[in-house]
Parts: sequence; structure tokens; C-alpha cells
Amino acid sequence: MNDSRETAKPRACVIGHPVDQSRSPLVHGYWLKKYDIDGDYVRQDVAPGAIGEFMEKLRSGEAGYVGCNVTMPYKAAAFELADERDELATTLGVANTLWVEDGRIHATNTDGFGFASSLDALHPGWDYAERAVVLGAGGGASAVVLALKNRGFSHVHIVNRTLARASELAFRLGDRVHAHDMDNLEAVMEGAGLFVNTTSLGMKGGAVPDFDFSPLHENAIVADIVYVPLETPILKQAKQQGFRTAEGIGMLLYQAVPGFEKWFGRTPEVDDGLMTEILADLGETA
Ligand SMILES: NC(=O)c1ccc[n+]([C@@H]2O[C@H](COP(=O)([O-])OP(=O)(O)OC[C@H]3O[C@@H](n4cnc5c(N)ncnc54)[C@H](OP(=O)(O)O)[C@@H]3O)[C@@H](O)[C@H]2O)c1
Repeated sequence: MNDSRETAKPRACVIGHPVDQSRSPLVHGYWLKKYDIDGDYVRQDVAPGAIGEFMEKLRSGEAGYVGCNVTMPYKAAAFELADERDELATTLGVANTLWVEDGRIHATNTDGFGFASSLDALHPGWDYAERAVVLGAGGGASAVVLALKNRGFSHVHIVNRTLARASELAFRLGDRVHAHDMDNLEAVMEGAGLFVNTTSLGMKGGAVPDFDFSPLHENAIVADIVYVPLETPILKQAKQQGFRTAEGIGMLLYQAVPGFEKWFGRTPEVDDGLMTEILADLGETA
């Protein structure tokens, strides 16, 4: 750890531009208070062109942070400019969590951990299935697909409106990952134990086509990584068709756990109190 951890109260932040929309201060602030840790977590807007300078100051300790979360548009730059990158960040080519140790910046990506941990909490044993279908091929999809591969799924089918993007992702993530266009959705859903929406369909009340989930395995889980609204139109449809569901809010909360652990030395719990606070902030009720 760099000196700021030993000599002053630990301070972490979220960097981005803009950064006002980030809910990370709420999450880490809740845990700092809950565990009575004398630390700080703040928003740090990094102006366009200034990410290199920020990283230098983070590395040297001049910035005064033990680490940070990274949001848009700096996830790729943070990965590139870090000194040590773990396998997850390397495979995805983007980092969302940085920490400083012995004057070196370490980078990881915790989105996949967040997704898998959320499913672990909601539906223990969810990863028994052989086959999963992931709708979408963007940033969220890449973390989810990698997490599914790492949890041992034999076949992960990416279905995307733009086939080229699905193919690129399948190529990058390697064996056991297959790319399809929307016309193949019904066919690849046949017998699958997990369906994950990673597209922005249904976000903030946007229109969503009708999905027929009946080809899925009867015990399948339908998950959405969209978290506004809490119960998305896709989850509503899945519930009405008798499937178990998982909301995207869990991924958002659990992805914060490894960072807190690194910066503040304690593994935090995603508890009901945190869920209540974040839902209130989103204008939702559980
Ligand atoms: N819960 C969490 O912690 C978490 C984490 C990450 C993301 N998210 C949420 O996940 C969603 C996607 O984020 P992202 O970063 O992955 O976005 P992204 O990189 O921009 O990817 C968007 C994806 O949505 C697809 N899409 C957009 N509009 C569509 C439509 N009308 N019909 C079919 N497909 C459509 C895109 O397809 P094309 O490739 O064809 O354009 C692409 O696959 C957002 O709502 C975001 O808030 C949540």
C-alpha cells in the first residue's frame, strides 16, 4: 500500500467525466459509516486530456488516494496506464477499479464479480446450467460473458442486433462463446438455464418487444443488468411467464465490494440497509 494508507485516513474516489451521476459515493459512504472506518470516498471529475496526469499523481501519492473506481470515459485509459493488470482486466481491456501498492497502480475489472455474486445471493446454485444466452454485446455483456465462462458454462450464446459486435466479442473471449443475430434468439434459447439481458432495452421505461421465454429450461433464471427501473419490462415478462428473475441492482452493488476491500481493508456486506438507500436514491421501492 502507498504511504497515504498508513499515515493518513484512507481516501478513495470515483473518476470520470462527468462523474456527478455516479452512485459509488453512496455505496462506499454507507459502508464507511456502517463499519465505523475513518476514511473518505469522493467524486473526482477528470477533465478530458487529464487522465495521464491523474494517474501519475495517483501513483506518486500526490493525489492522496489509495485507489479509485473508474467510470466513463476512462475505463480503457485506466487499463492502459496501470502498471499491473489482472487477468480479468486484461481479457476485457478495461478497468473499473484501481489501487496503489508500493508505488504501482494495480487494475482489475469487478463487473463480472458483481454479476456472479448477485446471482449467488439471489439464486444459489444458479450456475449449474450448461448453456446461457446473453442478449447484447456491449461493455456490460463482455463482463457478464467472461463471468459465465469462468463459472464453467459450457456454451455462452451472445445474441445481438449487430452481429459483427457479437462476433468480435465471441472471438475475443474465445472457446465456448458463440455469436448470433436476433433471428437465432429462439433457437439458442432452447433448453438454456440462464438468460441475461445486457442491452439497454427497457432502461428508464423505454419500449421493449415481447419475449417468449418458453424455449428456456423450465427452471431457468432470467436476469437483467439494467437497474432503472428495478423491475424492468423484460423481468416483468419473464415473471409473468413463470420464470425466476434477477434484477440488475445487485450487480451494481456487488461490483463495489472488491474495491472497498482493497482500499479500506474490510470485506463489506451488501445488506438490506444498503439496498434501501440505493433504491431510495433511484426513486424506487423494493
Ligand atoms: N447493473 C450494472 O452494474 C450494470 C453494469 C454495466 C451496464 N449496465 C447497464 O447495461 C445497459 C447496457 O450498458 P453497456 O455499457 O453494455 O452499453 P453499450 O456498451 O452501449 O451496449 C449496448 C448494447 O445494447 C444493444 N441495444 C441498444 N439498443 C438496442 C435496441 N433498441 N434493440 C436491441 N439492442 C439494443 C446494443 O446493440 P448494438 O451492438 O446492435 O448497438 C449493445 O449490444 C445499460 O442500461 C447500463 O446501465 C448495468
